[in-house]
Amino acid sequence: MTTTTEHDTTDVLVVGSGIAGCAAALAAASEGSEVLLVTKATRPDGASTDWAQGGISTTRDDPESLEEDILEASDGTADPEAVETLVEHADDAVEDVLVETLEIPFDETDGGEFDYTREAAHSKRRILHVDAATGTHILRPFLHYVDDHERIEVRQDTAALELLTDEGRVRGILTDEETTGKPIYAGATVLATGGIGALYERSTNPDDATGDGIAMAALAGADVTDLEYVQFHPTAYAGDDPFLLSEALRGEGAVLRNANGDRFMDDYHPDADLAPRDIVARAVDAEREETGEVVLDVSPLEGEFEDEFPGIAEKCRDRGIDGDAIPVAPCEHFLCGGVDVDDRGRASLEGLYAVGECARTGVHGANRLASTSLLEGLVWGLRAGEDAASDHEPTVVEAPDLRNSDPDLPDRFAAEKFTRLRQTMDEYLGLERTPDEIARASAVLRRLKGEVDAYVRTRTARDLYELRNATVAALLIARAASENEESVGCHYVEETQPTGETADD
Ligand code: SIN
Repeated sequence: MTTTTEHDTTDVLVVGSGIAGCAAALAAASEGSEVLLVTKATRPDGASTDWAQGGISTTRDDPESLEEDILEASDGTADPEAVETLVEHADDAVEDVLVETLEIPFDETDGGEFDYTREAAHSKRRILHVDAATGTHILRPFLHYVDDHERIEVRQDTAALELLTDEGRVRGILTDEETTGKPIYAGATVLATGGIGALYERSTNPDDATGDGIAMAALAGADVTDLEYVQFHPTAYAGDDPFLLSEALRGEGAVLRNANGDRFMDDYHPDADLAPRDIVARAVDAEREETGEVVLDVSPLEGEFEDEFPGIAEKCRDRGIDGDAIPVAPCEHFLCGGVDVDDRGRASLEGLYAVGECARTGVHGANRLASTSLLEGLVWGLRAGEDAASDHEPTVVEAPDLRNSDPDLPDRFAAEKFTRLRQTMDEYLGLERTPDEIARASAVLRRLKGEVDAYVRTRTARDLYELRNATVAALLIARAASENEESVGCHYVEETQPTGETADD
């Protein structure tokens, strides 16, 4: 351990550059704090926000019905108080930050009104969007805005390796800026590192989503909750290099068909193609297994597909998809759980906040309603940033000194172990799990963690830390899944047929 003099200090440190991190930085700076925002990304699309398609929900002057829809989509498992907080602050946050400050060009009707769209499990049209590339259109101006702010410094290509703690309080992070690690000490540390998409082979998220915030927080002793609720989106392109086919397509009239050309969602839920996401995802999976293929039939949209969803239409052309039937399959999309936080994003450790996908606010319960993730990131980002600004002065404490001393790290170690990790998650902790599969995942992941632990803290290699974080996050998902025997929302537990094999096979 060392109390190196090579360090930075700041009032509020934000880790991550999606909508939640930008909102936290903006709010803290608006309160007068000096803010340092670090991100391992080198481009905006390193953040999942940049990949978000459908839009951002508003209440459209009917908060009660949005609350009801969120609770219903979650199968009654969302925390009503958290949902109330989200809904209460939704419209002001969207109006003040996105419409007035950033002037996001949300789509409008010919009459100059907002052109609200609809997605599955929403009882009405209330979602603001820009084409179906809403995340990009929000994030890029937001990043410019915070980068230009006189009290915010944005530092790209900088990864957080560890949280620095002292007497139960988080004091900042150790980064990979120097070969021995460089501390940044902060009065408050806000994690906004996104989710865990990179733990799965097929995901609608960037490779940067390696569970960093969740793993670092858990390793530092913070509470994490609801990690078994990994949400799979029902409609990603079924071929290689999957991409999202926004639920807004079904909101506007596209329908699912099996290989026989039959619509099938009526057999699974009264709301058919607009049923909650977990139900549609499992139905798509079942029909693919039974009939061989499921397609999203966009013919009901007619010319609207090209006009209203140009980015998706272009991706279809790039993949050589000709016609109206796009082959789809479920794909990892969002983690409903994360670092346990209160209504201001405060984690269970003093000085630590978590916002966005790495946080568990209680809003999503076991299954998230569409177009509430950008909203949750915005609302909790603002609330956490404001609260963090009133926190303590930065304090310099001991930090680990990571010297590239021992032992030799084999070439491609991280890449090969990451492949093993993804195979394990796909095989054993996917859309449906059996208790036996969960136990197998835990056994493989425990071994993997042992192998990774032999090298971390001996060097600053970013890919090694990402692997460590992904392994810890995966183990926490496996543990949460093993502790919850009830099938609810995204956590669907099938009965096991005994195989005679052991979990270590
Ligand atoms: C989508 O566009 O289908 C995704 C929206 C979301 O996950 O909230």
